[in-house]
This record gives sequence, structure tokens and C-alpha cells, in this order.
Amino acid sequence: MADDFDRIRVRAEQHGLFETCILLGSLTGAEAMTAALEAAIRAHRDAEPGIERSNVGGWHSKTDMLDWGGPAAAKLADTAVKMAKRMSVFGAGEPLWSVRMWANVSPPGALNMSHAHPGVLWAAVYYVAAGEAGQGGELYLEDPRFPVPQMTLPGFRAIGADGMPQEVEHRIAPKRGDLILFPAWMRHGVRPYRGTGERISIAMNLYVREA
Ligand SMILES: [Fe+2]
Repeated sequence: MADDFDRIRVRAEQHGLFETCILLGSLTGAEAMTAALEAAIRAHRDAEPGIERSNVGGWHSKTDMLDWGGPAAAKLADTAVKMAKRMSVFGAGEPLWSVRMWANVSPPGALNMSHAHPGVLWAAVYYVAAGEAGQGGELYLEDPRFPVPQMTLPGFRAIGADGMPQEVEHRIAPKRGDLILFPAWMRHGVRPYRGTGERISIAMNLYVREA
């Protein structure tokens, strides 16, 4: 009988369920738009005190950048919506999309604490000035399944269908001209920047409502 047991083999196929969709865009031919955005942000920063949100250090505009960012801001919002539509399908007809936009100017040492954007469908960020490479300032996206703190051994990682240990946090080192979209419910933040010079990014909240 024991010999019969030795013949047991397992045939199993691993599947990954419930993909979290993010889109890493890199704009080309966008230098004039990016320069116009940068000029608008610098002028507005000199005229307004800014607000505190998830940012620790740095200047965070109000979420009304579409009112003062000119045609360049409108074009950026339109580009983000086009990207979001690639990752979206709605049951009955196209909804109405709308965007709130704000600017972040971050000096060395600034960071953004982990947060999500309640009530929003997609979150997007565009990099106008990404700072020096290799000096921090990465965007990080947290594993929304949140399993690791509940495990007995905190070093545990599930091995994915690609054979690699699953990440608990995904970091993206952005460049000027990158436009990144992710689900607005996904917790994210920005690692401290250790380089020199200011970093400038533009965040967007993309909303939908019934047409
Ligand atoms: Fe955010």
C-alpha cells in the first residue's frame, strides 16, 4: 500500500487572480506642453501659499489647476482621460469624465505619506521635473491585498505565477514626461528625495458620473 502512495503526483496550474491595473505612460513630443506647465506652476507657486495634504514639505497647490494651468493643463487632463479609457469599460454607454488637478513642488527631503483618493476612479501623476536619478523620490504603490502584516512570519511572500516572490510594495522611479495611472483606491506615497533641486509633479483625480 505504501508503494501505491508513492505514486501520487500533483498536476497543478497556477493562476493569478484580480489583476491591479496600472499604466506607465511616457509622453513624447510633449516638451512644449511640459515647459508651459512648469512655467504656470512656478508663477502660481509664487502667488499662492498652497495647502497641506499627504505632502510633508514642499508646496501643494489647490486642486484647481485646470483654472490656472491654461491649454497645457487641459491637454494633460485630456491625455490622462484617454489613457484611463484604455483601462475602463462601463456597462451602459460612456459616462461623463471630469478631472481635478493640482501641482506639487517638492524640495530635497520632501515626501508624501501613504494615502488613497476616496471617491475617485483613477489617480494619475505627471512628472514635470523628476529630480536626480538614484536619489529617492520614487512613487510607491502598496499591495492592496494587505496579507503580510497578518502572517506569522513577516518575511513571507507568495510566489507568483512568474515564479518570483510577490512584492508588497512596487516602486517606480519616474522621469520627466512620465504619466502614470493607477486605481485611486490603491494606497501610494512618495519616498523622500535626497538629491538637489526641486521636483515638480502634477496629480490628477479622474471621476466618472452617469451621462
Ligand atoms: Fe496621491
